[in-house]
Amino acid sequence: MISSGRTLYLALTVLLLSWTSLSLVLEHRTPGSPGQTLDFSEYGDHLARRADPSLAGYMGVFFLGADPYLYFYLSNGNDPISFKALNKGSPIAKPTKGTGGVRDPTVIQGGGNEAGKKWYIIGTDLNIGKTTWDASQRTGSKGIFVWESTDLINWVNERLVTVEDSTAGQYLVYWASKFYPTSDSKHTGNPSNIRIRSAYTSDFKTFTAPQTYINKSPTNIIDLTILPLNGSDGKSFLRFMKDETKKTVFVEVSTTGLFGTWTRPGGDSAFIQSGVEGPAAYLDNQVPGKVHLLLDFYGGDGYRPYESTNPASNSGWTASSTTAFPANLRHGSVMPVNQTLYSALKTRWG
Ligand SMILES: *[C@@H]1O[C@H](CO)[C@@H](O)[C@H](O)[C@H]1NC(C)=O
Ligand SMILES: *[C@@H]1O[C@H](CO)[C@@H](O)[C@H](O)[C@H]1NC(C)=O
Repeated sequence: MISSGRTLYLALTVLLLSWTSLSLVLEHRTPGSPGQTLDFSEYGDHLARRADPSLAGYMGVFFLGADPYLYFYLSNGNDPISFKALNKGSPIAKPTKGTGGVRDPTVIQGGGNEAGKKWYIIGTDLNIGKTTWDASQRTGSKGIFVWESTDLINWVNERLVTVEDSTAGQYLVYWASKFYPTSDSKHTGNPSNIRIRSAYTSDFKTFTAPQTYINKSPTNIIDLTILPLNGSDGKSFLRFMKDETKKTVFVEVSTTGLFGTWTRPGGDSAFIQSGVEGPAAYLDNQVPGKVHLLLDFYGGDGYRPYESTNPASNSGWTASSTTAFPANLRHGSVMPVNQTLYSALKTRWG
């Protein structure tokens, strides 16, 4: 149960049940402006990035197979699909709170006056080995794990936060939830379809009241990830998600902002790949307009890399070489790093 007056409001109509999936996009909101107006002008090149000669590689954060902890991976220089485990394959961090397990970790660089000085990892509080999918979705944790770092090396201030009403912020956090009727206080009956919810935060401690961001009822949608394009205009985005009803991953495009009009290239049935989940998208550091997309073959060997130079499309994605791509990586995220950060990661855990 989330504390705050807003939760009471939720409880009167529907009840927020659990985080079935969680991801995050870094945004900057112009102070005082509504959420629709997003100002990217203060970003570094993290979001606007096309080919960028200052970037030296990629850092990946994942959980592995049955091990719900934070594992770091570092690319082989600027090769976007060649990764090696850091810390000899041992976790960089294990949660000490909540369920003791973290899934779907997302690493992001701070924005605004935190750019280049602060990084965050967030993830779901779920140790599926100690519960069941059904129980976790009926009465699971309402918490989001957060870690902070000022150097990508020391990860501190582990905390579990809940989404509650507060002042607006510059980060948009989103997750998937299903809802039970108010009358079903024990969550034993049938829930709603799964929707994507979102809230803003500025400090990963307090959040604005959650809102429904994507609802394709009766279809279940989970595992949203958003890739800003054309960072300088702040209006063009791709969003990848999983149709949890048909078990496919597809992409939608907006050129009118995060809360603008989204279209699904190829139509309502178009998809990139079936039998996958947990899409993680990242721009190529060196090839302008090229996007890499990790797709989690959850029934098999976990993440496999795909790529496209026409990413605003559900067709034309090709499987990349898996020769240098580690097996068994699960739903996580990849972030570009410059030479300083690349070297620091390698020195500490390489
Ligand atoms: C890399 O980024 C960090 C953090 O923003 C910064 O301190 C460092 O100077 C950068 N290094 C290079 C080579 O640009
Ligand atoms: C920005 O996005 C639009 C539409 O998605 C595209 O036509 C245009 O080429 C992009 N511009 C840049 C500079 O990437």
